[in-house]
Amino acid sequence: MKTKTLDDLFYALLQDVYYAEKQLLKTLPKLAKESTHAELERAFTDHHKETKHQLERLEEVFEKIDRPAKGKKCEAILGIIEEGKEVIEEADAGDVLDAGLIASAQAAEHYEIARYGTLCAWAKQLGRDDVAMLLHETLEEEKAADERLTWIAKGSVNQAALAA
Ligand SMILES: [Fe+2]
Repeated sequence: MKTKTLDDLFYALLQDVYYAEKQLLKTLPKLAKESTHAELERAFTDHHKETKHQLERLEEVFEKIDRPAKGKKCEAILGIIEEGKEVIEEADAGDVLDAGLIASAQAAEHYEIARYGTLCAWAKQLGRDDVAMLLHETLEEEKAADERLTWIAKGSVNQAALAA
């Protein structure tokens, strides 16, 4: 199907982010498992729970716009996840690995922030403030998750990595 209207474009991007969230749902427990710092492990576990809600929220959006909830392969998120796997394989377990995990997770968060930001703007343009509101909730959660990682990195993790 060709994307002709902003509606179509919006739906295509929604499918992209739905796919990305599903991939992250699978990836976050792995990041938690690899983490050395308890704070970091908790951040990943909490965001995993949050991601489940975000998927439900997306399903609600699909319902509201009356289109089937399905994902569309997103090469960008697969690339980010693949790079994360390389970090896990190449870094020694411990503080350096933690710093690498944070960097990978933040790349994913920033991708999501970009996507949800656009989706919010488009939903408003399409006159769907109800949908924009739902997407905005997720956008704020992604920003908070990103800030939490920055906060963890600035604290113990990078200090310890520097000392390693
Ligand atoms: Fe998310």
